[in-house]
Amino acid sequence: EKGGFSSFMDKEIHDQPHAVADTLLGRTDLQGRLVLDELHVDEAVLRQVDKIIVVACGTAAYAGQVAKYAIEHWCRIPVEVELAHEFRYRDPVVNARTLVVAVSQSGETMDTLMAVRHAREQGAKVVAIVNTHGSTIPRESDAVLYTHAGPEVAVASTKAFLAQITAAYLLGLYLAQLRGTKFPDEIAEVLEDLRAMPEKIQRVLDGADHVREIARSMAGTRSVLFLGRHVGYPVAMEGALKLKELAYIHAEGFAAGELKHGPIALIEEGQPVFVIVPSPRGRDQLHSKVISNIQEIRARGAHTLVIAEEGDDAVLPYADEVFRVPQTPTLLAPLVAVVPLQIFACELATAKGLDVDQPRNLAKSVTVE
Ligand code: BG6
Repeated sequence: EKGGFSSFMDKEIHDQPHAVADTLLGRTDLQGRLVLDELHVDEAVLRQVDKIIVVACGTAAYAGQVAKYAIEHWCRIPVEVELAHEFRYRDPVVNARTLVVAVSQSGETMDTLMAVRHAREQGAKVVAIVNTHGSTIPRESDAVLYTHAGPEVAVASTKAFLAQITAAYLLGLYLAQLRGTKFPDEIAEVLEDLRAMPEKIQRVLDGADHVREIARSMAGTRSVLFLGRHVGYPVAMEGALKLKELAYIHAEGFAAGELKHGPIALIEEGQPVFVIVPSPRGRDQLHSKVISNIQEIRARGAHTLVIAEEGDDAVLPYADEVFRVPQTPTLLAPLVAVVPLQIFACELATAKGLDVDQPRNLAKSVTVE
Protein backbone atom coordinates (compact mmCIF):
# COMPACT_ATOMS: atom_id res chain seq x y z
CA GLU A 1 0.00 0.00 0.00
CA LYS A 2 0.91 3.68 -0.13
CA GLY A 3 2.28 3.71 3.43
CA GLY A 4 1.00 7.16 4.33
CA PHE A 5 2.08 8.80 1.06
CA SER A 6 -0.44 10.54 -1.18
CA SER A 7 0.50 8.43 -4.22
CA PHE A 8 2.51 5.35 -5.13
CA MET A 9 4.79 7.65 -7.06
CA ASP A 10 5.58 9.71 -3.96
CA LYS A 11 6.11 6.53 -1.95
CA GLU A 12 8.39 5.05 -4.59
CA ILE A 13 10.46 8.23 -4.78
CA HIS A 14 10.95 7.90 -1.02
CA ASP A 15 11.80 4.18 -1.37
CA GLN A 16 14.87 5.05 -3.42
CA PRO A 17 17.53 4.83 -0.72
CA HIS A 18 16.35 1.25 -0.09
CA ALA A 19 16.16 0.43 -3.79
CA VAL A 20 19.84 1.31 -4.19
CA ALA A 21 20.97 -0.28 -0.91
CA ASP A 22 19.11 -3.53 -1.60
CA THR A 23 20.48 -3.74 -5.13
CA LEU A 24 24.01 -3.51 -3.71
CA LEU A 25 23.37 -6.04 -0.95
CA GLY A 26 25.09 -9.41 -0.95
CA ARG A 27 27.09 -8.87 -4.09
CA THR A 28 30.60 -8.99 -2.65
CA ASP A 29 32.48 -11.80 -0.92
CA LEU A 30 34.42 -11.58 2.35
CA GLN A 31 37.46 -10.24 0.48
CA GLY A 32 35.33 -7.47 -0.98
CA ARG A 33 35.43 -8.91 -4.50
CA LEU A 34 32.29 -8.65 -6.55
CA VAL A 35 30.42 -11.91 -6.95
CA LEU A 36 27.43 -11.79 -9.20
CA ASP A 37 26.12 -15.29 -8.50
CA GLU A 38 23.17 -15.05 -10.81
CA LEU A 39 25.35 -14.11 -13.76
CA HIS A 40 25.62 -17.50 -15.39
CA VAL A 41 27.67 -16.46 -18.37
CA ASP A 42 30.97 -18.22 -18.91
CA GLU A 43 33.81 -16.00 -17.67
CA ALA A 44 35.80 -16.83 -20.80
CA VAL A 45 32.97 -15.38 -22.88
CA LEU A 46 32.85 -12.22 -20.78
CA ARG A 47 36.62 -11.77 -21.15
CA GLN A 48 36.26 -11.84 -24.92
CA VAL A 49 33.43 -9.37 -25.23
CA ASP A 50 34.49 -6.56 -27.57
CA LYS A 51 31.28 -4.54 -27.62
CA ILE A 52 28.34 -3.97 -25.30
CA ILE A 53 24.94 -2.88 -26.56
CA VAL A 54 22.34 -1.79 -24.04
CA VAL A 55 18.78 -2.18 -25.30
CA ALA A 56 15.81 -0.72 -23.44
CA CYS A 57 12.89 1.70 -23.69
CA GLY A 58 11.94 4.88 -21.86
CA THR A 59 13.48 5.43 -18.46
CA ALA A 60 15.36 2.13 -18.62
CA ALA A 61 17.15 3.39 -21.75
CA TYR A 62 18.27 6.51 -19.86
CA ALA A 63 19.68 4.25 -17.13
CA GLY A 64 21.60 2.53 -19.91
CA GLN A 65 22.92 5.85 -21.15
CA VAL A 66 24.20 6.69 -17.69
CA ALA A 67 25.85 3.27 -17.47
CA LYS A 68 27.64 3.77 -20.78
CA TYR A 69 29.84 6.51 -19.31
CA ALA A 70 30.89 4.32 -16.40
CA ILE A 71 31.35 1.02 -18.22
CA GLU A 72 33.48 2.55 -20.98
CA HIS A 73 35.58 4.35 -18.37
CA TRP A 74 36.12 1.29 -16.20
CA CYS A 75 36.27 -1.50 -18.77
CA ARG A 76 37.49 0.17 -21.96
CA ILE A 77 34.82 -1.74 -23.89
CA PRO A 78 32.79 0.31 -26.39
CA VAL A 79 29.19 0.62 -25.21
CA GLU A 80 26.26 1.56 -27.41
CA VAL A 81 22.85 2.33 -26.01
CA GLU A 82 19.94 1.85 -28.31
CA LEU A 83 16.20 2.00 -28.02
CA ALA A 84 15.13 -1.64 -28.28
CA HIS A 85 12.67 -1.06 -31.13
CA GLU A 86 15.29 0.75 -33.21
CA PHE A 87 17.87 -1.96 -32.56
CA ARG A 88 15.46 -4.68 -33.62
CA TYR A 89 14.48 -3.24 -36.97
CA ARG A 90 17.77 -2.12 -38.39
CA ASP A 91 20.59 -4.50 -39.18
CA PRO A 92 22.84 -4.18 -36.12
CA VAL A 93 26.36 -5.62 -36.11
CA VAL A 94 26.06 -8.29 -33.45
CA ASN A 95 28.02 -11.50 -32.99
CA ALA A 96 29.28 -13.93 -30.37
CA ARG A 97 31.62 -11.29 -28.94
CA THR A 98 28.81 -8.81 -28.37
CA LEU A 99 27.26 -8.57 -24.93
CA VAL A 100 23.73 -7.26 -25.08
CA VAL A 101 22.36 -5.83 -21.84
CA ALA A 102 18.57 -5.62 -21.77
CA VAL A 103 17.26 -3.24 -19.10
CA SER A 104 13.62 -3.38 -18.04
CA GLN A 105 11.65 -2.80 -14.86
CA SER A 106 8.76 -5.06 -15.80
CA GLY A 107 10.69 -7.65 -17.78
CA GLU A 108 7.69 -7.75 -20.09
CA THR A 109 8.22 -4.85 -22.51
CA MET A 110 7.63 -6.41 -25.92
CA ASP A 111 9.96 -4.04 -27.76
CA THR A 112 12.81 -5.02 -25.44
CA LEU A 113 11.94 -8.71 -25.59
CA MET A 114 12.04 -8.67 -29.39
CA ALA A 115 15.49 -7.04 -29.25
CA VAL A 116 16.65 -9.79 -26.87
CA ARG A 117 15.42 -12.50 -29.23
CA HIS A 118 17.02 -10.81 -32.21
CA ALA A 119 20.37 -10.45 -30.42
CA ARG A 120 20.43 -14.10 -29.39
CA GLU A 121 19.58 -15.22 -32.92
CA GLN A 122 22.71 -13.38 -34.05
CA GLY A 123 24.79 -15.26 -31.49
CA ALA A 124 25.15 -12.53 -28.84
CA LYS A 125 24.99 -13.25 -25.13
CA VAL A 126 22.24 -11.37 -23.35
CA VAL A 127 22.29 -10.24 -19.75
CA ALA A 128 19.00 -8.85 -18.44
CA ILE A 129 18.82 -6.16 -15.76
CA VAL A 130 15.25 -6.58 -14.57
CA ASN A 131 13.20 -5.79 -11.48
CA THR A 132 10.36 -8.29 -11.75
CA HIS A 133 11.19 -11.86 -10.81
CA GLY A 134 9.93 -14.59 -13.06
CA SER A 135 9.17 -12.21 -15.92
CA THR A 136 9.71 -13.04 -19.58
CA ILE A 137 12.89 -11.11 -20.47
CA PRO A 138 15.09 -12.86 -17.85
CA ARG A 139 13.65 -16.21 -18.93
CA GLU A 140 14.69 -15.58 -22.50
CA SER A 141 18.12 -14.14 -21.66
CA ASP A 142 21.39 -15.95 -20.95
CA ALA A 143 21.66 -14.43 -17.50
CA VAL A 144 19.92 -11.95 -15.24
CA LEU A 145 21.07 -9.41 -12.73
CA TYR A 146 18.03 -8.47 -10.69
CA THR A 147 17.45 -4.97 -9.40
CA HIS A 148 16.01 -5.11 -5.90
CA ALA A 149 13.79 -2.06 -6.04
CA GLY A 150 10.69 -3.91 -4.87
CA PRO A 151 7.40 -3.70 -6.77
CA GLU A 152 6.96 -0.43 -8.67
CA VAL A 153 3.29 0.46 -9.04
CA ALA A 154 3.24 4.02 -10.41
CA VAL A 155 3.36 3.97 -14.20
CA ALA A 156 6.24 6.44 -14.41
CA SER A 157 9.43 4.77 -13.27
CA THR A 158 11.47 6.22 -10.38
CA LYS A 159 13.07 3.78 -7.96
CA ALA A 160 13.59 1.21 -10.71
CA PHE A 161 15.69 3.82 -12.54
CA LEU A 162 18.08 4.24 -9.62
CA ALA A 163 18.26 0.49 -9.10
CA GLN A 164 18.97 -0.05 -12.82
CA ILE A 165 21.88 2.39 -12.73
CA THR A 166 23.19 0.66 -9.61
CA ALA A 167 22.96 -2.82 -11.16
CA ALA A 168 24.55 -1.69 -14.41
CA TYR A 169 27.41 -0.20 -12.38
CA LEU A 170 27.89 -3.52 -10.60
CA LEU A 171 28.02 -5.24 -13.97
CA GLY A 172 30.62 -2.73 -15.18
CA LEU A 173 32.75 -3.15 -12.08
CA TYR A 174 32.46 -6.92 -12.34
CA LEU A 175 33.70 -6.82 -15.94
CA ALA A 176 36.54 -4.51 -14.90
CA GLN A 177 37.50 -6.96 -12.15
CA LEU A 178 37.32 -9.94 -14.49
CA ARG A 179 39.26 -8.27 -17.28
CA GLY A 180 41.74 -6.51 -15.01
CA THR A 181 41.08 -3.04 -16.41
CA LYS A 182 40.87 -1.61 -12.89
CA PHE A 183 42.92 -2.42 -9.81
CA PRO A 184 41.04 -4.19 -6.99
CA ASP A 185 41.48 -1.21 -4.67
CA GLU A 186 39.99 1.12 -7.30
CA ILE A 187 36.97 -1.15 -7.62
CA ALA A 188 36.66 -1.33 -3.84
CA GLU A 189 36.71 2.45 -3.70
CA VAL A 190 33.83 2.80 -6.19
CA LEU A 191 31.86 0.18 -4.24
CA GLU A 192 32.44 2.20 -1.09
CA ASP A 193 31.18 5.33 -2.88
CA LEU A 194 28.14 3.39 -4.10
CA ARG A 195 27.37 2.22 -0.56
CA ALA A 196 27.37 5.84 0.57
CA MET A 197 24.67 6.76 -1.98
CA PRO A 198 21.51 5.67 -0.10
CA GLU A 199 22.26 8.09 2.72
CA LYS A 200 22.93 10.89 0.20
CA ILE A 201 19.67 10.18 -1.61
CA GLN A 202 17.92 10.34 1.75
CA ARG A 203 19.42 13.78 2.32
CA VAL A 204 18.00 14.99 -1.00
CA LEU A 205 14.59 13.65 0.02
CA ASP A 206 14.79 15.32 3.41
CA GLY A 207 15.65 18.66 1.84
CA ALA A 208 13.03 18.63 -0.92
CA ASP A 209 10.62 21.28 0.40
CA HIS A 210 12.17 23.97 -1.79
CA VAL A 211 11.74 22.01 -5.03
CA ARG A 212 8.13 21.21 -4.07
CA GLU A 213 7.36 24.84 -3.44
CA ILE A 214 8.87 25.90 -6.78
CA ALA A 215 6.99 23.10 -8.57
CA ARG A 216 3.66 24.30 -7.16
CA SER A 217 4.43 27.87 -8.22
CA MET A 218 5.04 26.64 -11.78
CA ALA A 219 1.74 24.77 -12.29
CA GLY A 220 0.86 27.11 -15.18
CA THR A 221 4.12 26.53 -17.07
CA ARG A 222 3.79 25.35 -20.67
CA SER A 223 7.35 24.35 -21.49
CA VAL A 224 10.46 23.40 -19.52
CA LEU A 225 13.93 22.64 -20.87
CA PHE A 226 16.58 20.49 -19.19
CA LEU A 227 20.32 20.73 -19.82
CA GLY A 228 23.06 18.37 -18.74
CA ARG A 229 26.47 17.22 -19.81
CA HIS A 230 28.24 13.85 -19.51
CA VAL A 231 26.14 11.70 -17.12
CA GLY A 232 24.00 14.79 -16.54
CA TYR A 233 22.74 14.52 -20.13
CA PRO A 234 20.65 11.36 -19.63
CA VAL A 235 19.53 12.83 -16.30
CA ALA A 236 18.26 15.89 -18.20
CA MET A 237 16.34 13.65 -20.58
CA GLU A 238 14.86 11.65 -17.73
CA GLY A 239 13.80 14.88 -16.00
CA ALA A 240 12.05 15.96 -19.20
CA LEU A 241 10.41 12.56 -19.63
CA LYS A 242 9.02 12.64 -16.08
CA LEU A 243 7.49 16.06 -16.70
CA LYS A 244 5.89 14.97 -19.99
CA GLU A 245 4.54 11.74 -18.50
CA LEU A 246 3.16 13.16 -15.27
CA ALA A 247 2.31 16.80 -15.91
CA TYR A 248 1.63 16.75 -19.69
CA ILE A 249 3.97 19.68 -20.13
CA HIS A 250 6.17 20.08 -23.16
CA ALA A 251 9.68 19.29 -21.98
CA GLU A 252 12.97 18.59 -23.72
CA GLY A 253 16.32 17.41 -22.46
CA PHE A 254 19.45 18.57 -24.24
CA ALA A 255 23.16 17.96 -24.02
CA ALA A 256 24.46 21.26 -22.66
CA GLY A 257 27.24 21.32 -25.26
CA GLU A 258 24.61 21.19 -27.99
CA LEU A 259 23.00 24.41 -26.82
CA LYS A 260 24.79 26.69 -29.27
CA HIS A 261 24.04 24.30 -32.14
CA GLY A 262 20.30 24.86 -31.95
CA PRO A 263 18.39 24.77 -28.68
CA ILE A 264 19.57 28.22 -27.58
CA ALA A 265 17.18 29.62 -30.19
CA LEU A 266 14.35 28.46 -27.92
CA ILE A 267 15.46 30.64 -25.04
CA GLU A 268 13.27 33.68 -24.52
CA GLU A 269 12.37 35.82 -21.53
CA GLY A 270 11.12 33.65 -18.67
CA GLN A 271 11.74 30.24 -20.27
CA PRO A 272 12.35 27.82 -17.37
CA VAL A 273 15.51 25.75 -17.81
CA PHE A 274 16.79 23.13 -15.41
CA VAL A 275 20.56 22.75 -15.50
CA ILE A 276 22.30 19.75 -13.95
CA VAL A 277 25.71 21.00 -12.86
CA PRO A 278 28.54 18.47 -12.55
CA SER A 279 30.78 18.35 -9.51
CA PRO A 280 33.36 21.16 -9.39
CA ARG A 281 35.82 18.53 -8.15
CA GLY A 282 35.44 16.41 -11.29
CA ARG A 283 37.85 16.23 -14.20
CA ASP A 284 37.90 17.70 -17.69
CA GLN A 285 36.51 21.19 -16.97
CA LEU A 286 33.01 19.76 -17.15
CA HIS A 287 31.92 22.07 -14.37
CA SER A 288 33.18 25.32 -15.86
CA LYS A 289 31.70 24.44 -19.25
CA VAL A 290 28.26 24.00 -17.75
CA ILE A 291 28.61 27.21 -15.75
CA SER A 292 29.25 29.03 -19.06
CA ASN A 293 26.08 27.46 -20.45
CA ILE A 294 24.02 28.77 -17.53
CA GLN A 295 25.53 32.19 -18.09
CA GLU A 296 24.62 32.09 -21.79
CA ILE A 297 20.98 31.15 -21.27
CA ARG A 298 20.55 33.52 -18.34
CA ALA A 299 21.83 36.40 -20.48
CA ARG A 300 19.00 35.58 -22.93
CA GLY A 301 16.31 35.70 -20.28
CA ALA A 302 16.04 32.06 -19.15
CA HIS A 303 14.69 31.36 -15.68
CA THR A 304 17.42 29.04 -14.40
CA LEU A 305 16.68 26.16 -12.03
CA VAL A 306 20.03 24.76 -11.07
CA ILE A 307 20.91 21.42 -9.51
CA ALA A 308 24.33 21.75 -7.95
CA GLU A 309 26.51 20.20 -5.27
CA GLU A 310 26.51 21.52 -1.75
CA GLY A 311 29.24 24.13 -1.49
CA ASP A 312 29.32 24.93 -5.21
CA ASP A 313 29.01 28.69 -5.05
CA ALA A 314 30.06 29.29 -8.65
CA VAL A 315 26.43 28.73 -9.69
CA LEU A 316 25.01 31.44 -7.45
CA PRO A 317 25.40 34.49 -9.75
CA TYR A 318 23.46 32.77 -12.55
CA ALA A 319 20.86 30.69 -10.72
CA ASP A 320 17.31 31.85 -10.07
CA GLU A 321 16.81 28.77 -7.92
CA VAL A 322 19.37 26.31 -6.59
CA PHE A 323 18.56 22.75 -5.54
CA ARG A 324 21.40 21.18 -3.61
CA VAL A 325 22.66 17.60 -3.81
CA PRO A 326 25.45 16.10 -1.67
CA GLN A 327 29.01 15.96 -2.98
CA THR A 328 29.41 12.81 -5.05
CA PRO A 329 31.93 11.42 -7.53
CA THR A 330 30.88 12.48 -11.05
CA LEU A 331 29.88 9.03 -12.29
CA LEU A 332 27.56 8.42 -9.34
CA ALA A 333 25.94 11.86 -9.41
CA PRO A 334 22.85 10.78 -11.41
CA LEU A 335 21.67 8.82 -8.37
CA VAL A 336 21.16 12.09 -6.49
CA ALA A 337 20.72 14.63 -9.32
CA VAL A 338 17.60 13.00 -10.76
CA VAL A 339 15.73 13.01 -7.45
CA PRO A 340 14.77 16.72 -7.40
CA LEU A 341 13.57 16.34 -11.00
CA GLN A 342 11.31 13.41 -10.06
CA ILE A 343 9.91 15.37 -7.12
CA PHE A 344 9.42 18.45 -9.31
CA ALA A 345 7.37 16.51 -11.87
CA CYS A 346 5.34 14.68 -9.23
CA GLU A 347 4.54 17.83 -7.26
CA LEU A 348 3.73 19.94 -10.32
CA ALA A 349 1.39 17.26 -11.69
CA THR A 350 -0.29 16.97 -8.29
CA ALA A 351 -0.73 20.76 -8.19
CA LYS A 352 -2.47 20.49 -11.58
CA GLY A 353 -4.84 17.95 -10.06
CA LEU A 354 -3.54 15.06 -12.17
CA ASP A 355 -3.32 11.39 -11.26
CA VAL A 356 0.43 10.89 -10.95
CA ASP A 357 0.17 7.12 -10.59
CA GLN A 358 -1.82 6.60 -13.77
CA PRO A 359 -1.03 9.25 -16.37
CA ARG A 360 -3.32 9.34 -19.37
CA ASN A 361 -2.53 7.11 -22.36
CA LEU A 362 0.33 5.25 -20.60
CA ALA A 363 0.59 1.71 -19.29
CA LYS A 364 3.04 0.30 -16.78
CA SER A 365 4.18 -2.41 -19.09
CA VAL A 366 3.64 -2.32 -22.81
CA THR A 367 3.31 -5.89 -24.00
CA VAL A 368 2.71 -5.10 -27.66
CA GLU A 369 5.23 -3.83 -30.20
C1 BG6 B 1 6.94 2.65 -20.60
C2 BG6 B 1 6.68 3.03 -19.16
O1 BG6 B 1 5.81 2.27 -21.28
O2 BG6 B 1 7.90 1.61 -20.60
C3 BG6 B 1 7.98 3.65 -18.66
O3 BG6 B 1 5.62 3.97 -19.08
C4 BG6 B 1 9.10 2.63 -18.76
O4 BG6 B 1 7.85 4.05 -17.31
C5 BG6 B 1 9.17 1.99 -20.15
O5 BG6 B 1 10.31 3.28 -18.50
C6 BG6 B 1 10.02 0.74 -20.13
O6 BG6 B 1 9.43 -0.22 -19.29
P1 BG6 B 1 10.25 -1.39 -18.65
O7 BG6 B 1 9.27 -2.19 -17.82
O8 BG6 B 1 10.79 -2.22 -19.79
O9 BG6 B 1 11.33 -0.81 -17.84
